[in-house]
Amino acid sequence: MRILILGCGGFIGSHLVERVLKDTKHHIKGVDLSDYKIKVHTEDPRFLFHKRDVYEDATMLSMDIAHSDVVIFLATICHPSLYNTQPLKTIRSNFTQPCQVVDLCAEHKKWLINVSTCEVYGRTLLSYVEPDAYTDELYLQREDETPLIMGPIQNQRWSYACAKQLLDRYIYGQGYENGLEYTIIRPYNFFGPRMDYIPEKDGEGTPRVLACFLKALMDGEPMKLVDGGEQRRTITYIDDAIDAFMRILERPKQSKNQVFNIGNPDNQISMSDLAEMMRGIYSSLLMDESYLQHPIESVSSEDFYGPGYEDCDQREPDITKAQELLGWNPKTDLHETMRHTMRYFFEHYVQPVFDPS
Ligand code: UGA
Repeated sequence: MRILILGCGGFIGSHLVERVLKDTKHHIKGVDLSDYKIKVHTEDPRFLFHKRDVYEDATMLSMDIAHSDVVIFLATICHPSLYNTQPLKTIRSNFTQPCQVVDLCAEHKKWLINVSTCEVYGRTLLSYVEPDAYTDELYLQREDETPLIMGPIQNQRWSYACAKQLLDRYIYGQGYENGLEYTIIRPYNFFGPRMDYIPEKDGEGTPRVLACFLKALMDGEPMKLVDGGEQRRTITYIDDAIDAFMRILERPKQSKNQVFNIGNPDNQISMSDLAEMMRGIYSSLLMDESYLQHPIESVSSEDFYGPGYEDCDQREPDITKAQELLGWNPKTDLHETMRHTMRYFFEHYVQPVFDPS
C-alpha cells in the first residue's frame, strides 16, 4: 500500500511512521514543515519525505494524493492556547484548508483517514443536569448518537472544535454526495514520547497539559491548575492509539465510512490528580522525595489562556464500535502510560535514568 501522511512530523505522525515502517511492507510519502521527530526514518527507502507546507503547492498536493492508496490527514493546529488567541488561523487550519484535501480525495477516489478530535463533542450533557441526576450514560460519548454542543461564539475556545466538527460534516457530505470513502478518528488525549515540546527548550508558546506540567517540574516552577483542575480527561497511551490506526489500515471494509472514538475509558483522571501523579513519578525518576511537595497552584483560565477560554468538563469515550469492528482494546493503564511518557522526557531533557532492573 502507498500511504500518504500529511503532517507526518508531529507527535502522532512520527509514531505512525515508525510503526508502519517497522511492522508492514507499506510505502509512505510524508509531508511536513518539521522533520525533527522523524529524522531517524528519512534514510529508510520506504519513506519518502517532503519538507514543505501541505498547501504550498496545489499541483503537488493533487499528484501526491493521486499516487497514493490512502491519505492520512494530521496537519492541523491542535493547541488550546491558540484557539482563543488565533481563532482565524485555527479555523483555517482545521476547516478551510483541509477542505482541499477532502475534495482531492473525493476527486481522485482515495480513502481518507481524517484525524478529528474528541473535542467535537464539546460541552458534555453533564453541564445541563443537576448533579443528583447524573447517570453513567450521560458521561459517555458515542460517535453516532451523542449531540455535539458548543458554547457561544465569544467563547473562542470552540473555534477549534467547531471547525473540526464542520470538517467531519464536510467529509460526510463528500461521502454522501460523491462517494468519498473515509474514516474519522476522534482521539482522546494521546500521551507518549515526543508529545508537543518543552517551552524554551525546543519550542515556544503554551503546549498541552503534559508538557506544561513537565516544564514546571524541570524548572522548579509551580504546576498550574487551570480553574482549580477539576476538569477530567481520559488519557490514551500513544502505542495503543497507533494500534487502532494499524487496525483501521488492515481492515478497510470494517473501517470505511465510520467514525471511531479512540480513547482509553479506564484512564480517566482530573487535572489536579494528574499533577499529583506526575510529581510522584518525577520524584521517583529523580530519586528525590522533595518533589512530592512540588508546588501546585490554581490559576484562572483568563490569566492562563486569555479571554474566551471555556473548558470541556469531561470526556469519556464509548469505544464499543472500535472494539467490535476493529477488535481494538487499549492495554496501557494510566500509571504505566505516565511512567513510559515521563521517562522519555526525563531521559531526553533531564538526565539518563538509573534502571536497577
Ligand atoms: C486538546 C485539543 O484541543 C484536543 O483536540 C486534543 O484532542 C487534546 O488536546 C489531546 O491532547 O488529545 P485539551 O485536553 O483541553 O484538548 O488539552 P490540554 O491543553 O492538554 O488541557 C487539558 C486540561 O488541562 C484542560 O482542562 C486545561 O485547562 C488543563 N491545563 C492545561 C492545566 O490545568 N494546566 C496547564 O498547565 C495546562
